[in-house]
Amino acid sequence: MSTDRGAGGTTPLTKSLLTDRLDLLRLSAADRRVSGLLVLVHLWAAAVPALTAVATGWLVAGLTGAATGRGTVSAVAWPLIAVSALLVADEILTSLGRTLEQYNAGRIDARIRRRVRRLAMAPSSMAHLEDPVFADEAARASDVGEGRVRSPGTAAVGQLRLCFRFLGALGSAAVIAVSFSPWLAVVLLVVCAVNRALIRRWWVHLAEVRDERESMRRRAEYWSDVASTGPAAKEVRLFGLHEWVVRRRTHELLAWAETIWSARREILRQQGWIALLAAIAAGSALLLPGLAAARGDLSVSALMTVIVAAWGVFQIASMGREAFDIEYGLGAVRALERLNTTQHGIATSAGTDVQQAGEPSATPEEGAPATLRTEGLVFAYPGSQHRVIDGLDLTVRSGEVLALVGHNGVGKTTLIKLLSGLYLPTAGRLLVDGRPLDAAGASAWRKRVAVVFQDFNRYPLSLADNIALSAPEHRHDKEGIRAAARRAGVDVLADRSPDGYDTVLSADRAGGTDLSGGQWQRVAIARAVFAVEHGRDLLVLDEPTAHLDVHAEARFYRQVVAEVTGATVVLISHRLSTVRQADRIVLLEAGQVTEQGTHRELLDDGGEYARLFRIQAARFTDTGPRTGEKEAAR
Ligand SMILES: Nc1ncnc2c1ncn2[C@@H]1O[C@H](COP(=O)(O)OP(=O)(O)OP(=O)(O)O)[C@@H](O)[C@H]1O
Ligand SMILES: [Mg+2]
Repeated sequence: MSTDRGAGGTTPLTKSLLTDRLDLLRLSAADRRVSGLLVLVHLWAAAVPALTAVATGWLVAGLTGAATGRGTVSAVAWPLIAVSALLVADEILTSLGRTLEQYNAGRIDARIRRRVRRLAMAPSSMAHLEDPVFADEAARASDVGEGRVRSPGTAAVGQLRLCFRFLGALGSAAVIAVSFSPWLAVVLLVVCAVNRALIRRWWVHLAEVRDERESMRRRAEYWSDVASTGPAAKEVRLFGLHEWVVRRRTHELLAWAETIWSARREILRQQGWIALLAAIAAGSALLLPGLAAARGDLSVSALMTVIVAAWGVFQIASMGREAFDIEYGLGAVRALERLNTTQHGIATSAGTDVQQAGEPSATPEEGAPATLRTEGLVFAYPGSQHRVIDGLDLTVRSGEVLALVGHNGVGKTTLIKLLSGLYLPTAGRLLVDGRPLDAAGASAWRKRVAVVFQDFNRYPLSLADNIALSAPEHRHDKEGIRAAARRAGVDVLADRSPDGYDTVLSADRAGGTDLSGGQWQRVAIARAVFAVEHGRDLLVLDEPTAHLDVHAEARFYRQVVAEVTGATVVLISHRLSTVRQADRIVLLEAGQVTEQGTHRELLDDGGEYARLFRIQAARFTDTGPRTGEKEAAR
């Protein structure tokens, strides 16, 4: 398939006419049974114009005979039956064809959506999801299907139909050639083909204009949704942003639509030329045989045959939105191909350039908790020069509880995204159990990791499912779910609800309920505990106590962290009371480790950790606030 073109770029004419068409035909043939039936229906539809022309001529000959008193009843009846049978059969097969086309298009679109989802999920890192080019291409490739913007399925079945429409036009032209003049047949075909090419060109242009503005469409959609969905809806109401959001949406929408409308206006202007060409073609199709009939060189029945056959040829010039549907749907297929190529590139380069890895690493080492080591680790987010992690050397020992602390934005969350294999380093190495982690090994490694993210997810599912999602293969382990809930302190939620663990955690579901921020955090902790209990051997907790009340925070280390056996734990927290019991505390600054040791060692060293701890501690004593505030101001 074509891969060498950017969105909206130009393509050699022959390529777009041939390769892309063949791609669409291949796509339409994916379900052999349905496409086989469709080919039979289209074959019939292609034969109908020529057969109708012949049958009409036959009928007129019979009628002429009857009018002059020389004909028989059967000379009229049989052609009448033939014309009627053609009409009825055409009606039935057209409806059947439409149903088959709809079914086939739906299946093709579903398959394309599945492929896009697989591509989005496939890479070992998630850097591509933050790449605007990927986001645009994914939107082009996945906003497909009935009622959506594009439909590769409609394009594919439309292309198949078009091929047979050409065949039908050729059949009708052959009837004109035999009944009247080969020259007229050729001229009609050429005029109709030129007509079609002109219309197509304009629709292609419109498809390209829309394609180029994909990111504008996504922005307009965002502002359409923001007032009615998700957490933003609350702020929009509270801050009285509704008017502003509507203006912003209108502005984005108009900016997007203006270029589309101007392309559409241009198309309408060009329709004049196309109408003139069509008038010339229709005029000659009627005039020349009409004159011949008037001179007596052509019988009336042959004249009718030629006129009906000419109508059949004209069918290839009538396209309406068909060309747009084909070109725009094809845009989704091309975007998918480009995604395929770039994703393959990402997978290949990530595994070799950065890590120079040997074999993929991430299989558990004889059941021992994971050991991690970074060597000169460097990471900058895609599209950014800023090295968030800048030459970091760190070892996380098997089974230890390591706490990561540091100011906002120093890269703690970024580091755990790297440690859990969600991103691959820009340079340097990450070793898991002594072996370099590469793109190939990352997905296996992630199966060993349980994470409570700072921005953990809230699934609109039952409490049990919200806990068991971290190890879905064990979702029937009711006792395991209850044990994880007890350790995270969410068992009370199940106890007080009539549906227990089946309570749906979403207020917009019937019988469902929403939770407080802290309760949701406990659910996220239970989810990670459940995963560790089912064999994950690295537990990462990013700000797990940020929403917890004083009691819950005090219990957290004892009930969750200290209870973990068989896993290495990486714990991030700004609340230094949460991390002080860790086996080792590491302070990150400017993407590097600047201090490390136990809580006591770091206090004795009197460095930045000691200063931060004193500031926090001072806030809880009667004597210290002034000292703490003074230091905080430094
Ligand atoms: N997806 C992203 N794309 C680009 N830059 C990012 C992205 N996520 C984070 N950053 C940048 O990376 C830096 C480190 O962010 P990170 O979230 O790792 O900090 P953190 O130490 O976890 O901070 P906090 O204590 O506030 O949670 C910040 O400067 C931030 O702006
Ligand atoms: Mg963070």
